Amino acid sequence: PPAADMLPPLRVAVTGAAGQIGYQLLMRLAAGEMLGKHQPVILHAIETPQAIKALRGVVMELEDCAFPLLRGVLATDQVEKGFGDVNLAVLVGARPRGPGMERRDLLSANAQIFAEQGRALNRVAQRDVRVLVVGNPANTNALVAAANAPDLWEEQFTAMTRLDQNRAVSQLALKLQCAVTDIERVIIWGNHSNTQYPDLSHALVRGEWARPRIDDAWYRNEFIPRVQKRGAEVIEARGASSAASAANAAIDHLRDLWLGSGGRWQSMSVPSDGSYGVDAGLWYSVPCVCPGGHFRRVLDLPIDEFSASMMERTRKELVEERDAVRHLLPKDYDKAF
Ligand code: NAD
Ligand code: LMR
Repeated sequence: PPAADMLPPLRVAVTGAAGQIGYQLLMRLAAGEMLGKHQPVILHAIETPQAIKALRGVVMELEDCAFPLLRGVLATDQVEKGFGDVNLAVLVGARPRGPGMERRDLLSANAQIFAEQGRALNRVAQRDVRVLVVGNPANTNALVAAANAPDLWEEQFTAMTRLDQNRAVSQLALKLQCAVTDIERVIIWGNHSNTQYPDLSHALVRGEWARPRIDDAWYRNEFIPRVQKRGAEVIEARGASSAASAANAAIDHLRDLWLGSGGRWQSMSVPSDGSYGVDAGLWYSVPCVCPGGHFRRVLDLPIDEFSASMMERTRKELVEERDAVRHLLPKDYDKAF
């Protein structure tokens, strides 16, 4: 690849930049772990006015790392300034879930933020901006942001289920005593919530079907609920929601989207095109391959009865979430209905 100096820097916005995830994400982005070791970056760190002081400290630390690829940091609480000319935006800033809360409790509080951010991206971001939504409830926040950005394509907005996929891959590797790199084609379907369906029916271990190597009882009674409820398990243990692993998944997601997934399937919540019986206009996690710069859905997979019922359950939850944020969608927005 060309020397770093020969590539023009990319502008990457991160909201919630002084939060738990933001802190990890900015460092790894500046180190070149997302966009490659030859890609200079200018970071646009966006926070609320209350967190600006803490953000100043994060900016000091970024400076103190003397990252060779870091060509500038803009720190702001003004969303339009923050999204100006950005090539990528990672929308992390939101209220996280505390012990005992379900993601849906956060729905209305957080969706408002994403409506405003969708409008701002629409006005000032680069026309081909790629947006990753991490803040929960991520799928529906992506819907709200995209619906409020009528001049951008809805496919420019994706939401993160890569953490769920990484969790599922790790659990399977522990069970089969193999390396995570031996495993392919683990799929997360649907919502980033406890209705998600971590599906092993297409999974391969060193090129061979995984499913005959695991028994039904473990798959249905241990593996699936463990992955579905892992976020809550981490909150319970840490007293705070997952942060390093979430930032790591955001790096994985955008690296594969931007640079290509090398033919590997990666789960991403993307606007449904109606495939797999999912209503168009819902952000539903499906397996994708990324040729570099964009995603393609993996289509026409055979779906057995058990999978169909699991996929339907999480679809229904996303319909309910969408209906709960109707008031935040522009009046002429018809894609979701
Ligand atoms: P955190 O509370 O540590 O940080 C959130 C930051 O966002 C805070 O600093 C806050 O000031 C800021 N913020 C809030 N509203 C903002 C706005 N309108 N604009 C800019 N900044 C704003 O939380 P965290 O642990 O970093 O988690 C952030 C979000 O990510 C939460 O919604 C959490 O549930 C979600 N999350 C998602 C996944 C996933 O897999 N999709 C995984 C983990 C966490
Ligand atoms: C996670 O999956 O760890 C996050 O979405 C946090 C949560 O609320 O579960």
